[in-house]
Amino acid sequence: MKRFRSTGAKVAIIGSIALFVVLWTVMIVAALTGGNDPFQLTTLDPQGPFSTLIDNLVAPVFIIAGLVFVGVLGAILFIVLRYREKGDPELDTAPMPKQTHGHTAAEITWTAIPAAILAVVAVLTAITILDLAAEEPDSLQVEVFGQQWWWGYRYDLDNDGRFDSDTDVETATELVIPVGRPVQLSVTSNDVIHSFWIPALNGKRDAVPGLVSPWKLQADEPGVYRGQCTEFCGLSHANMRMLVRAIPADEFDRWVADQQQPAAEPTTELAQQGLSEWQNNCASCHLIDGVNNEQLAENPAALVSGIAPNLTHLMSRGTFAGSIYNLHYPNPAGNTQPFGATCTFEDLRNCGDPADAGLPGNPDNPVYRPALEAWLRNAPAMKPMAPDEGRGMPNLGLTQTQIDAIVAYLETLK
Ligand code: CUA
Repeated sequence: MKRFRSTGAKVAIIGSIALFVVLWTVMIVAALTGGNDPFQLTTLDPQGPFSTLIDNLVAPVFIIAGLVFVGVLGAILFIVLRYREKGDPELDTAPMPKQTHGHTAAEITWTAIPAAILAVVAVLTAITILDLAAEEPDSLQVEVFGQQWWWGYRYDLDNDGRFDSDTDVETATELVIPVGRPVQLSVTSNDVIHSFWIPALNGKRDAVPGLVSPWKLQADEPGVYRGQCTEFCGLSHANMRMLVRAIPADEFDRWVADQQQPAAEPTTELAQQGLSEWQNNCASCHLIDGVNNEQLAENPAALVSGIAPNLTHLMSRGTFAGSIYNLHYPNPAGNTQPFGATCTFEDLRNCGDPADAGLPGNPDNPVYRPALEAWLRNAPAMKPMAPDEGRGMPNLGLTQTQIDAIVAYLETLK
């Protein structure tokens, strides 16, 4: 049994092996359990044909990379152990072994093998890129725009190539799509570069101001698929989330018909009062079709509408504020645990039943008033924003009476 000369060398080798084992264990565990993340931000659990294309590319590339890794590391370990200095004093005076520098055959070989491996990876990658770029027939056309720090969506429902016809609809934060039908996205930005990413449904696509980038999504099953802006875009980049609600085609048709309606007229006295409070406090930034959209058309300079999410059918969404807060209670329905005074800013995201932590609100459930009220009370405390620079909602200094009225009005916006 040969022995190492110094304990330092032993520590280095054993330490390296331990680190190697730990890193690989972490990576393999992460790859195997990625799909269990309640926020679903994993690309390794594809839920649609386009994300499946990507997953089908990940597997062979991972296998090739793994074989190269094991081969190279194995060769290094073999040489290190086989030819290590063995404490033999005669070796110190032995002549240099034959040198191979400039060995043409060896150099061609170790250039050609990696080139061939990379050529295989390049072909597989190019096929996937072309498949992802191909136009899908009979797709739903949606414009996606990023803005500090939320996402907006405009549906071209009459297929005239524009997203602002009378029958088209605009929504924010949540993208509603029909199951099993491809959705063709036109991704752009109103300010800085963002990146649109619903990992379960496709890879990411940058949202660049002044540029329209095509992208597509499709979901195989009804469900909620979360996403996250993946290009650093300032203060609340981490809070610039989105989600996709995939629903059956007939339900989607009903959703479209509802969205095409102008906002409901408030009927109760409190809600009417809320509408006038809304006009006074919110209407210079938010837009409600049938309330202030005509003012915008007549005198765009009077309004900065369009810099905040369109609220016409606010209550059809389960989440708000860049999808970081629940607007409705999450499933299971009937979760009405009240929001206590002790619920802090951080908990507010998950207040309600702790078992529902991280679950997205369901628009069919009751409104989760604590989050909505807290937002109206002091929005910048709920999400870092820069209202002084026209980015995000300011603290409007509303009284509880005003908040109650505005909430009563917002609740009518189904
Ligand atoms: Cu938008 Cu990061």
